[in-house]
Amino acid sequence: MIAYLTRKEKFCAAHRLWVKDWSEDKNMEVFGNCANHNFHGHNYILSVTVKGKPDPHTGMIINAKDLGKLMREKVTNVLDHTNLNLDPSFLSPEIQTTTENLVIQIWNHLEHHIKVCKLHCVELIETDKISAAYYGEK
Ligand code: NI
Repeated sequence: MIAYLTRKEKFCAAHRLWVKDWSEDKNMEVFGNCANHNFHGHNYILSVTVKGKPDPHTGMIINAKDLGKLMREKVTNVLDHTNLNLDPSFLSPEIQTTTENLVIQIWNHLEHHIKVCKLHCVELIETDKISAAYYGEK
């Protein structure tokens, strides 16, 4: 029997959405405030869901403490209080730092570190109104 476990961790970071080849007007039209020149910040919530069979002794798919530690070490501590566009990290330097791109990058960075069960979903909540999820589909 397969069960799913979700762990959340938080980080704060700055970013900006901008296409170099576009005019200022076009960037503002498409990205709105997210294109502001001097960047802006979000209080992100990273939500990672894994799936697997609960261990017969512990009843756990993975120890949620270990999953939280992994998320902090590999993702949230790395990105916390950084500029997602400018500061070096595991994120590809040329990507637009949209929530959609971020969940794909975080999935690719985390997946091989999760050994005792399977990664099911990486969700990133950017605001009350916006979140994105990635399930590993190519
Ligand atoms: Ni934004």
